[in-house]
Amino acid sequence: MTPEQFTEGIAYSEDNFQNDQAAHLKVDKVLIREKFDLDGKRILDFGCGMGGMSLWYATNWDCTVYGLDIDRHHIKVARHVQEKHGIGNVTFDKRNILDDPLGEDERFDYVFLNDVAEHIDYPILEAIFVQLEKGLAPGGQVFVTYPPWRSPYASHVTHAVKVPWCQFLPPKVLHRMIEKNNLPIVGEEESDLLQAYYGLNHLTHERLLKVVKAAGLRPVYRKSHCILNRLPGLGRANINFFPLDFLVTKEFLLLERASTPQVREDADLRQELSR
Ligand SMILES: C[S@@+](CC[C@H](N)C(=O)[O-])C[C@H]1O[C@@H](n2cnc3c(N)ncnc32)[C@H](O)[C@@H]1O
Repeated sequence: MTPEQFTEGIAYSEDNFQNDQAAHLKVDKVLIREKFDLDGKRILDFGCGMGGMSLWYATNWDCTVYGLDIDRHHIKVARHVQEKHGIGNVTFDKRNILDDPLGEDERFDYVFLNDVAEHIDYPILEAIFVQLEKGLAPGGQVFVTYPPWRSPYASHVTHAVKVPWCQFLPPKVLHRMIEKNNLPIVGEEESDLLQAYYGLNHLTHERLLKVVKAAGLRPVYRKSHCILNRLPGLGRANINFFPLDFLVTKEFLLLERASTPQVREDADLRQELSR
């Protein structure tokens, strides 16, 4: 990582941590504030990257946060920002939980994956969810947020090429466009935009449901954030059916252990989640 990339990473992390309006995770923050009271909770920020969200949880609630990520560069930035701001209730580790699984004493009330699940190959993603299920405290929940593949942002690819729905271009054309706009990024595991593109797993709600169900988790809440939510009267609408699902920019899925006794028997909710 060059000194310039390190500085860039710090600025990115601080923006996510200190600014609720920062574009990257703005919608996540609104929903998390609305849905969760994290006071007194143990939180795992899985794939915490440069730590912006971990530090945001730690400074907005009286909670303890464990941020882990597979990328050494990201954790280096996260630790730097944590030390710079003197935040005590967070621990960051470079860790691969498939090689070094969570121990008996590592149990969490909430596990967050903000923009992580779309970056991991399916067999590995399923094995990770198996570990995360084991890491839940009784009544614990997992909250997964991601930009779906069908979205105008093509998971994240549109940010690189500035063409909405570019995922539907012929693969060779898209490869050339990304190559033309290619830039180095902070990661050690993925160190430029082209590598990041090939690391995407083309995640959809249906695909994610299969993965989490196989790992012994069940969905209890889904919100699809759609461009049409900007229209008057549609602010809270869940618009995720064909063909309007192509306008969904972010998906949110809350999960609990499939073995947890079901409190809600809500037919509409079940239908919504099984779509
Ligand atoms: C797009 S970044 C999101 C970072 C952070 N959650 C955020 O919202 O700013 C995805 C992160 O997932 C991490 N990641 C990918 N595979 C992982 C794995 N197997 N275990 C832990 N982290 C992983 C990457 O290193 C990267 O930091």
